[in-house]
Amino acid sequence: MGLPRSRVVITGMIPEEGVAALRAEHDVVAWDDAQPIPRDELLRRVAGADALVTLLTEKVDAELLDAAGPQLRIVANVAVGYNNIDMPACRERNVIATNTPGVLTESTADVAMALILMTTRRLAEGERVIRSQQPWQWGMFFMLGTGIQGRRLGIVGMGQIGVALARRAKSFGMTVAYSNRRAVAPQLEDELGCARLDMGELLATSDIVSVHCPYSSETHHLIGAEAFAAMRPNAFLINTARGPVVDEAALADALSTGRIAGAGLDVFENEPAVDPGLLDLDNVVLLPHLGSATIETRTAMATLAARNALAVLRGDAPLTPVAG
Ligand code: GLV
Repeated sequence: MGLPRSRVVITGMIPEEGVAALRAEHDVVAWDDAQPIPRDELLRRVAGADALVTLLTEKVDAELLDAAGPQLRIVANVAVGYNNIDMPACRERNVIATNTPGVLTESTADVAMALILMTTRRLAEGERVIRSQQPWQWGMFFMLGTGIQGRRLGIVGMGQIGVALARRAKSFGMTVAYSNRRAVAPQLEDELGCARLDMGELLATSDIVSVHCPYSSETHHLIGAEAFAAMRPNAFLINTARGPVVDEAALADALSTGRIAGAGLDVFENEPAVDPGLLDLDNVVLLPHLGSATIETRTAMATLAARNALAVLRGDAPLTPVAG
């Protein structure tokens, strides 16, 4: 005889593989619209849930946990970032929270590398020239960018994605430095030829600064006016982590005044809104949070989240509990 079926609420659309794995063992209610679920609908739907499978667009706070009820055992976030989850509120209610590390490392590092190339080589700007049907012609001095070979990439937050980007950057001929609370293993530093620097030195000496730290109250506006003042005027900023790590208004100011050379953003402070000051600037590349957006990665994320929920509902330890 199997275990009794539990109630699992999936708060947004996820790949079918994840839904099917959950349905095989439990009663599943899933929001099946590509738009995020309205909050009042979400609060109604979660009532009586034993497990929630959540997206980063849902705020998992005390109100939501209480709306689910005291039987709730796990919140399985389908994202590596879990700043949408109030961890103390989960802990107080003995609710386990899990995320999806590992499976989106390579796809997110790919987008960071793409943004490095798009910004330094002005690729999005060039595409706009053609699409807007402006007259153009190959020319010796037409749309010159900056080469990245021999330049220093400064990685802020040397977790799995930071390391994956360092590997890519190295193969493009860049040198790498990083800033992180802890040093990475000495063998990894040797392999990547990278040194750990404090933030001030990293900002002052990097040609490209790429953000890969989690978002928390400690990293809120970590990159703001002071950081832009410390950066080189020919430096670029890349952010594929979380929008509010960067002070977006200060960034718009730094870009429009030439304080830094350019930026590539996949995430925004108030997604899906984008600071209007950025929209007219040619020296910023703007992507709509595509870091993990491949079929393979999203399938792996959904499957891992489902496996976390299934494990906890079976009484086993989760595969990837959040570190917090
Ligand atoms: C995406 O942004 C994630 O945190 O997985």
